[in-house]
Amino acid sequence: MPTPSMEDHIEIIYSLIEQKGYARVSDIAEALSVLPSSVTKMVQKLDKDGYLIYERYRGLVLTPQGQKLGKRLVKRHDLLEQFLRLIGVEEERIYNDVEGIEHHLSWNSINRIADLVQVLEENPQLIEKLEKLKNEEKNS
Ligand code: CO
Repeated sequence: MPTPSMEDHIEIIYSLIEQKGYARVSDIAEALSVLPSSVTKMVQKLDKDGYLIYERYRGLVLTPQGQKLGKRLVKRHDLLEQFLRLIGVEEERIYNDVEGIEHHLSWNSINRIADLVQVLEENPQLIEKLEKLKNEEKNS
């Protein structure tokens, strides 16, 4: 099982490669607000564990195992953002809240939240009800 920090690295590497076609240690470090030296260490561990192939001067490539996990982690992140947005969490809190909870939920919980998101999307009156409750809370 990858640790939360391993998951963070694989998640960001996967999105960087999706967006730019490559992932550099400096970009990963910046995205995660950590030192490049600690990214290098982690990348070496992920290489050893079979998630990616790291060559100092040629950059890094995810293995099929790393790609599969990366895709799953990015999907999980997006789902949780969607969930918090649907229930009315303030936009500026969403990203950090997701970063805080994503590693600590089981896939069982993630799948149940995915179902809930689907139910909410299919029933806009439930979202209106949530919005109403939120506004009542604000005005009390
Ligand atoms: Co995330």
